[in-house]
Amino acid sequence: MPRSAVTIALANQKGGVAKTTSTVNLGVALKARGRRVLAVDLDPQSNLSMSQGIDIESLRVGMYDVLLGNAPMKEIIHTREIDIAVAGIELAGAELALSSTIGRERALERAIDTVKSNYDYILIDTPPSLGLLTINSMVAAQGVIVPVQCEYLSLRGLAQLRETLAQIREHLNPGVDILGILPTMYDGRTVHGRDALAVMRENFGPLLFRTRVGKTIRFAEAPVEGMSVIKFDPSGQGARWYKRLANEVIDRVEGETKKAAA
Ligand SMILES: Nc1ncnc2c1ncn2[C@@H]1O[C@H](COP(=O)(O)OP(=O)(O)O)[C@@H](O)[C@H]1O
Ligand SMILES: [Mg+2]
Repeated sequence: MPRSAVTIALANQKGGVAKTTSTVNLGVALKARGRRVLAVDLDPQSNLSMSQGIDIESLRVGMYDVLLGNAPMKEIIHTREIDIAVAGIELAGAELALSSTIGRERALERAIDTVKSNYDYILIDTPPSLGLLTINSMVAAQGVIVPVQCEYLSLRGLAQLRETLAQIREHLNPGVDILGILPTMYDGRTVHGRDALAVMRENFGPLLFRTRVGKTIRFAEAPVEGMSVIKFDPSGQGARWYKRLANEVIDRVEGETKKAAA
């Protein structure tokens, strides 16, 4: 039986929590472990595409055209450190354009189905909202990774995210669940950072990844050069954190598959 990709959405309606950073660096780290990886840019801000050095001004087609059925997914995949399904600014109009179509929540799932057999992992970077694009990502996915900044106020939106996910499970995709909560921008030197992590541990128990992504300026520097942190600073902490996360993701995803087969 040909293996087919496991699809994972990285979602949190709060901006600036490291969704895009985590999509790129987890993707590159999974590739370093020999997995075939596609990252899908589903944010009209195109940060994922840009962070891999793609000139979005020159794009003729992107995810917008794919979601509306006007271009095949294969045609908008660019190969960089990993494969990237690119997005340009016109994706901002996709929610409105999709909203009047039948099967509007499944447009991404249909597109991903056409390339699934080429990959082991498909990671979806989502915009900072729980709108139709993010819903499409959760309908297409088996797992959701929720990056959460280790600050007390960041925890507040998570109940709403879980409620949206519960609705999607009930009506659209019974198979989707949270794969893990990822603490980001953790500063263990501050009481606030340690307290926020303790609260997350209480709330999420085993859903919390053991990996904590700390703070480093490398995460801001690398995308300017069109690189992941893993390529930009291979021996740095940033690379180490995301390699550790990739190991945990592989354990959670492929460990389950092995159990199911046994
Ligand atoms: N662990 C980190 N430490 C320091 N800065 C980070 C870290 N992760 C991300 N950043 C920076 O924070 C900002 C937001 O990250 P980003 O991945 O774009 O978040 P999102 O996609 O959730 O909006 C970016 O400028 C990024 O470079
Ligand atoms: Mg982003």
